Amino acid sequence: MNDSAVQIGQEFTVQPSGQACGARIEGLDLSQPLATQTVEALRAAWLEHHVLAFPDQQMSDDDLERFTQYFGPFGNDPFIAPIPGREHIIAVERRADEQAPIFAEAWHTDWSFQVSPPKGTCLLGITIPSQGGDTLFANQHAALDAMPASLRQRIEGLTAVHSASLAYAPDGLYGQTDVDSDRSMTITPSEEALATQDHPLIRRHSETGRASLYGCVGYIMGIKGMDHQAALDLLMELHAWQTQDAFVYTHKWEPGMLLMWDNRCLLHRATGGYEGQDRLLHRTTIG
Ligand code: SIN
Repeated sequence: MNDSAVQIGQEFTVQPSGQACGARIEGLDLSQPLATQTVEALRAAWLEHHVLAFPDQQMSDDDLERFTQYFGPFGNDPFIAPIPGREHIIAVERRADEQAPIFAEAWHTDWSFQVSPPKGTCLLGITIPSQGGDTLFANQHAALDAMPASLRQRIEGLTAVHSASLAYAPDGLYGQTDVDSDRSMTITPSEEALATQDHPLIRRHSETGRASLYGCVGYIMGIKGMDHQAALDLLMELHAWQTQDAFVYTHKWEPGMLLMWDNRCLLHRATGGYEGQDRLLHRTTIG
């Protein structure tokens, strides 16, 4: 066990990443059911570190579904077709020769345009390139806590208008042009992406009560009651603040690694850098 790892009971160790969030959990076999007290200890670690990585797992899709449901019901995943035979698992996939843009390369929090967005996401690494393909996480508790008072005063009490339209509308980033590309993922753009949903820009975490920024420009299309250009200017200024290196954890994947993260207080994004190699992960959301 590494010096800074913490032993939880007899069962697992928690090794913080040393970055803005994230911890590595060792000692558990997630192909087997977990005891209630183990799940509760994991939940506590998840609420503390926001991203948990479980290396060296040998999980089937059944195991991934069972693990997901320890933390809530499945979320609803729109605009991406599930893998055959599974209602709640999508493949985050890219072939070695694929030319379509990297999926989810812009900062976001999953499905923030929903009425009740997913509280978490699980992602299981199946085919992991030898380099690149890191997933970045930006801690939005830390971003809010460190925010200058002058900026915080300008956003206090504001309501953000979220929508999937820039991404999943027929003319969006993953719209018809993308459908016609060589993308291996089955994305299903639709007019339903035009719907909007309001959420406070500063939100309290539903389990810890701690305040954080929620979401960012992209899924956030505007600010309620604010001129469109003024809102975009503010959202861009905020985005630069939210995604600073000081708030970011760079997650490096290993084959067989399961990751779970908390969408309520993080932004995340995919990265490239693995041209010529396949990448495949299976994803579920915690509703
Ligand atoms: C995602 O946002 O679900 C994808 C993250 C990744 O591919 O690294």
